[in-house]
Amino acid sequence: MADDLMKRVAILGSTGSVGRQTLDVVRSFPEHLSVVGLAGWSNSELLEAQIGEFNPKITWSRGLSEETQNVSDGLEEMATHPDVDVVVVATTGFSSLSPTLAALRLGKTVALASKEAVVMAGSIIQREIQSGGKLFPVDSEPSAIWQCLQGESSEVSGLTLTASGGAFRDRSLDQLDDVTPEEALAHPTWQMGAKITVDSATLMNKAFEIIEARWLFGVDWDRIQAVIHPQSIVHSFVEFHDGSVKAQLAFPDMRLPIQYALMYPERISGGFAERMEIEKLGSLEFYPLDDTKYPCYREGLKAARLGGTYPAALCGADDVAVELFLGGKISFLAISELVKRVLVEHKSGDETSLEDIVSVGNWARIRAHELAGI
Ligand SMILES: NC(=O)c1ccc[n+]([C@@H]2O[C@H](COP(=O)([O-])OP(=O)(O)OC[C@H]3O[C@@H](n4cnc5c(N)ncnc54)[C@H](OP(=O)(O)O)[C@@H]3O)[C@@H](O)[C@H]2O)c1
Repeated sequence: MADDLMKRVAILGSTGSVGRQTLDVVRSFPEHLSVVGLAGWSNSELLEAQIGEFNPKITWSRGLSEETQNVSDGLEEMATHPDVDVVVVATTGFSSLSPTLAALRLGKTVALASKEAVVMAGSIIQREIQSGGKLFPVDSEPSAIWQCLQGESSEVSGLTLTASGGAFRDRSLDQLDDVTPEEALAHPTWQMGAKITVDSATLMNKAFEIIEARWLFGVDWDRIQAVIHPQSIVHSFVEFHDGSVKAQLAFPDMRLPIQYALMYPERISGGFAERMEIEKLGSLEFYPLDDTKYPCYREGLKAARLGGTYPAALCGADDVAVELFLGGKISFLAISELVKRVLVEHKSGDETSLEDIVSVGNWARIRAHELAGI
């Protein structure tokens, strides 16, 4: 990487799991990355500490004191600020959509962790990418596909994403009724925020990633699948028409895909990736994903194939269902039931505008609360 190349980075969601790991990457490469924007939400104490360390030009959060907050209109304004080259979008849920689109429309590079933006508005985001917006995936499985596609110009014949199987991989569905949020949050291989960890236990997260892969890489639904891979070392496979299959491997650590997206197109040494001694890896296992064990995964893919505003309804309903489960208000198995009930009530046309997507997402949140009686 050229020594004089400095990328100016804004991090939306800097107080979260991906946001904090992005700052680890920035700390490792001060000669290539500088922080110009930091945005959090409720954790003002951590945000103020980050501001003290990185001294960014622009800052925003719901709870920041007035003297330290200097962008009033929030995430979208930060994402489009003229001093920002790369916007890392790592906020939960709906909040990721408008800043992602705003940055893409201005031709900025978006390093996207928040897959919900693509799940809700995949076709709109795809159009922005085709019109010149640059979106680099930060999620490890889509990042693996992106890495495998480098230097390839022919169409792929199939994508296979791996899934650890989450906290309850070795239990049957009827053993899950009384599992607690603490048990669901004990992910076997990844350290992540609460929402995505529960989505990993229900495998809704894998449905979201398949939807993300479909829109980012333009591959039909029938050519994308997921398999269970308990070790989380192979992150995805890409199969080409000549029968050749490429895979990307790394120990589970989000800082590697974050670093790849921030440094792209360069690979750079000195990051966090633990060196892989292939001879010590032992056996890597892959199993078919039994979707009868994962009703959220089935609902997610069903909504994706229906298209229109169904994925927005899916995201809204899942957001609320997971929130209610984490708050001890509904059971683990009620997550998929609630999502299903919202989707059954929803009706969508084929063409959707951004306004439709936002309004359906909000409707699904309200309806999920009503159906849960909370
Ligand atoms: N963690 C991972 O390893 C991982 C991997 C792949 C993809 N992702 C995706 O990356 C995104 C973030 O995940 P995470 O695990 O980092 O989540 P997290 O730890 O819960 O962090 C979420 C971040 O978003 C902020 N936030 C919450 N609600 C917000 C709102 N309404 N408006 C604006 N900001 C808000 C939070 O601020 P406060 O903390 O200040 O409240 C925090 O900075 C998710 O979409 C997830 O699916 C995560």
